[in-house]
Amino acid sequence: MSEEKFNLTSDCKPISMKNKKPIKNNNNDFPGESRRDFLKQSSLLTALALTPVTVLKAAESNWDEKIASAFEKLPVNLEINGKKCSLSLEPRVTLLDLLREQLGLTGTKKGCDHGQCGACTVLVNGRRINSCLTLAVMQDGKSITTIEGLGNSENLHPLQEAFIKHDGFQCGYCTPGQIISGVAVIREGHAGSAVEIREYMSGNICRCGCYPHIVDAIMDVKQGGKKV
Ligand code: FES
Ligand code: FES
Repeated sequence: MSEEKFNLTSDCKPISMKNKKPIKNNNNDFPGESRRDFLKQSSLLTALALTPVTVLKAAESNWDEKIASAFEKLPVNLEINGKKCSLSLEPRVTLLDLLREQLGLTGTKKGCDHGQCGACTVLVNGRRINSCLTLAVMQDGKSITTIEGLGNSENLHPLQEAFIKHDGFQCGYCTPGQIISGVAVIREGHAGSAVEIREYMSGNICRCGCYPHIVDAIMDVKQGGKKV
């Protein structure tokens, strides 16, 4: 379970990137280079074969990046955990990356980044989605709830309490997504039995194999009748 503080700034300003540590590169084929660098270089090589000389000169001076970042941003209004946020975003930014990289809401986890693990589950207008599979600009005008919006260490959500009571996690990496999904399953009316819970939680993978305990936690909250 995430114990990170809810640190979305009061005016929803993106967090400073200055003090961010670079992501460690484990790609032995391209030592010292990130995947993004590799993709940029690949794109540049492709463009070299196709582009007129003047455009190439602009690319060498990084004008393409500067121009793109100046013109491509779109205004996006979101309500995130009850706070109104007016943002200016590149259309390529996923909702997951917006939450984690720009707003500092790191409770939502990036597992597969391909819609297969459920670690990135959030609620959009009350419905659960994989935030790695949607662009932030597509959610303009909508209300987003992340694990930070459900509860915090001083005031846990009933399902967070139940996960602790039933030992519903080991490493905890999948837990924010499991809890968000579990809340949605109860609200959807799909927590009537262990079999039903397993079926409707099947999009949330736990590599530690805590499934029986997760089901127990959801059953406990459902049977306790507390509002979730
Ligand atoms: Fe989104 Fe795995 S990170 S489904
Ligand atoms: Fe480790 Fe689920 S608790 S992946």
